Amino acid sequence: MQKVVPEIWPIFDQRVREMVEISQPGKPVELQHHVQAIMAEATICIFFGQGYANSKNVKSVLDLAEDIAELLGIYQNQSFLGRNLFWLWKPLTWAQIVLFRIPLHIGFTFARTLWTDISDMAKSPRKKDDSLVNYLVRAYASPDGHLSVRTRMWIMVLILTFLFASLHQTATIMVWITYHLALHPDCQNSLRDEASSIVSSRELSYSSSIVDVQTMQNAVKTDSFIREVLRMKGDLVNLVRAPIRDIELGGYIVPKGSLVFPVTHLSYRSPEFVNQPNEFSGARWVGSGKSAAMTGPGYLAFGLGRWACPGRLLAVMELKCWIFALLKYSKVDLDGGKYEILDPFNITSVPPRGDILIERWESHV
Ligand code: HEM
Repeated sequence: MQKVVPEIWPIFDQRVREMVEISQPGKPVELQHHVQAIMAEATICIFFGQGYANSKNVKSVLDLAEDIAELLGIYQNQSFLGRNLFWLWKPLTWAQIVLFRIPLHIGFTFARTLWTDISDMAKSPRKKDDSLVNYLVRAYASPDGHLSVRTRMWIMVLILTFLFASLHQTATIMVWITYHLALHPDCQNSLRDEASSIVSSRELSYSSSIVDVQTMQNAVKTDSFIREVLRMKGDLVNLVRAPIRDIELGGYIVPKGSLVFPVTHLSYRSPEFVNQPNEFSGARWVGSGKSAAMTGPGYLAFGLGRWACPGRLLAVMELKCWIFALLKYSKVDLDGGKYEILDPFNITSVPPRGDILIERWESHV
């Protein structure tokens, strides 16, 4: 995180500034497009290193994350074929994405650069390079630096999976965060004040864009707001388990191999875990000892236990960068005060639709 935050903050800062500059009063911004582009660039920097961050690769990564999202069935409930003719939707989607879209979107240049880098890293390990690619190569290469074609393909598959898990999910939550900021202007003011007071107390200038991991850790109101949005956005399910033997759960026998989907909504809204659970309170978690990345039975946004999301600390840092940059340059509003849920069963991975309006802070843009 010490290294990642200073690397990704300028991306958030610059791209949000551009988004605000081109926004027009009273006209909704293309929020999803902007958050995905920001996340694609940040993810490339973290996973592949800054050398890969060019507009062509950003486009490839964006398209690939969408391909994997579709392949995994995230948009299935929105497709007529997916809802009514599943047996046909499944092979068609598979063939279309695996045989055509993924090879097309990886693109020759990106695939070749990655392939060459994997070979070079295997032959001469780069000890100081802590990109995901270098880590995977070190984990899979034999001591003499050999990597079979199959292993290289497997590394590529792992990278694609990580890209999807990181980019799509965090971008969707960034959209959720923005809608909740728009619905709670009081929170916008208090988070903006928090950001500028932290930065000025550290004798750095908020306006000169120096934000590091310490700044992010001190942002306790922002952290609390993120946790509250993740709790309140309304998911029904977001994790799954399958027992490896028959087990008893709540008086029922769950047979080995069956899929168990905890209804997350019931935990989030249970008075057992939180007072007045149906009320949104952005500062609720300040001083509670519970941070946005801390999982528990009343907070399953990042899963639970051994299989909980390994990217959650990074995700929360990225969400904080988004809030800091967005509030630094603008105030956000939701046209009509309403948004539409596109897939009630998949709230955590399918962003809502609505019209976000942006009002600039003239002092910064
Ligand atoms: C706000 C953003 C994110 C949310 C809400 C989220 C949520 C989740 C959830 C609910 C799970 C399942 C956990 C379980 O079964 O207990 C999961 C798994 C996973 N997440 Fe995330 N995630 C986010 C961001 C990220 C990021 C940034 C990365 C990568 C850097 C990542 C990588 C993964 C991986 C690899 C798994 C599978 C872990 C395993 O099965 O062992 N996620 N995530």
